[in-house]
Amino acid sequence: MHHFHYSNGQLYCEGVAVAAIAAKVGTPFYLYSHATLQHHFQVFDRAFGETPHLVCFAVKSNSNLAILRIFINQGGGVDIVSGGELFRALRAGVAPGKVVYSGVGKRPDEIRYALEQGILMFNIESPQELQVLNQAAGQMGRRARIALRVNPDVDPQTHPYISTGLKQNKFGIDIDRSVAEYLIAKQLPHLEIVGVACHIGSQLTQLSPFIETLGRLKELIARLRREDIQIRYLDIGGGLGIQYNEETPPHPVEYGRSIIQELQGLDCTLILEPGRVLVGNAGILVTKVLFTKQTEAKYFIIADAAMNDLARPSLYGSYHGIQPVVEKDRREVTASLVGPICESGDFLAKDRLMPAFDPGELVAVMSAGAYGFTMSSNYNSRPRVPEILVHKNEFYVIRQRETYEDLIRGEEIPICLTGG
Ligand code: LLP
Repeated sequence: MHHFHYSNGQLYCEGVAVAAIAAKVGTPFYLYSHATLQHHFQVFDRAFGETPHLVCFAVKSNSNLAILRIFINQGGGVDIVSGGELFRALRAGVAPGKVVYSGVGKRPDEIRYALEQGILMFNIESPQELQVLNQAAGQMGRRARIALRVNPDVDPQTHPYISTGLKQNKFGIDIDRSVAEYLIAKQLPHLEIVGVACHIGSQLTQLSPFIETLGRLKELIARLRREDIQIRYLDIGGGLGIQYNEETPPHPVEYGRSIIQELQGLDCTLILEPGRVLVGNAGILVTKVLFTKQTEAKYFIIADAAMNDLARPSLYGSYHGIQPVVEKDRREVTASLVGPICESGDFLAKDRLMPAFDPGELVAVMSAGAYGFTMSSNYNSRPRVPEILVHKNEFYVIRQRETYEDLIRGEEIPICLTGG
């Protein structure tokens, strides 16, 4: 469900015509619907009903302060993977007690920052990290709450780049070895074991890998309790997929229901780390066609957005729907929608039947709210695009378009090159 719809041949985001926003802010830009974001959070949160739980939005999927604030206002926490994400989330107003920190490579300064803030828990991904955290907490006179992020060796049946719960992935601690690590952690004076964490991958379109994982986590928690290690939190990560094209992922309500059922009687507070399912379909990328070009082999529609703005198609071969912002009678063509970047891998849609857009027309790249702006870069010295939030009949610039000056911020020509 999302609030992008056509009315009188015009694409609207809630009560605002997308073309009107383009006229004001120029192109390209990311556009988010407040009502969709809020609705997604509520549906997801309510799917867990009375079961004690905390929804910790995965900041990496969309880290704009305004977006974070929407979820924080709904009572959400955050899942972070860096000091930068912690900084953003705190600026957005998150309570430190609702922050969980995942990631295989936490730097000492990041660990200290999170300790200072008193976050809810660190999801530890290696034996060495356990020692480093214990030491840092000791030096700061603190006790760090921890979970071990275990790797359950379950195939999430998704793109290999976004699978994380297989033995060959860099993530987590092998579930079979984790009991030994928990016993070590128990001896470390500056750590307090509070949980078990797991995240097996992203864009999952079936429930079975989640359920298989839960089975293993339940066994682990039972074993830990036999060792007198009390587990208060079970963090089952994120990963629920969305519909980009013809996928039929489970509805959050179905996802919630089967998880609750599987975890009955476990007596843990559940932590969830959804990213994509909350923001993916709540955002689009709006771009303008610059040129069309018929070559001997192919038809290209060249737009002003590129792989630096939305990396997913180039990086994973991901599908994003392509729709006109203003509908009109026109033919369809098999074309590639490409950007200005100097790489043949620069495309937003490849060899696909799409409307035969003309130069000057606006194009909506759908389902771009997750891992869109956050993965964008300045490649080819392209300023990053603005982010716009629609709330009912108003729109707000929630991130300005970067300027050329922004591009060179922090750069310097050293004196040895200036002849000074
Ligand atoms: N928790 C952890 C520890 C994660 O690593 C991730 C995503 C999430 C939660 C949120 O997963 P989600 O609910 O969004 O599936 N750039 C890729 C996706 C990378 C996902 C990385 N980890 C893409 O554009 O598809």
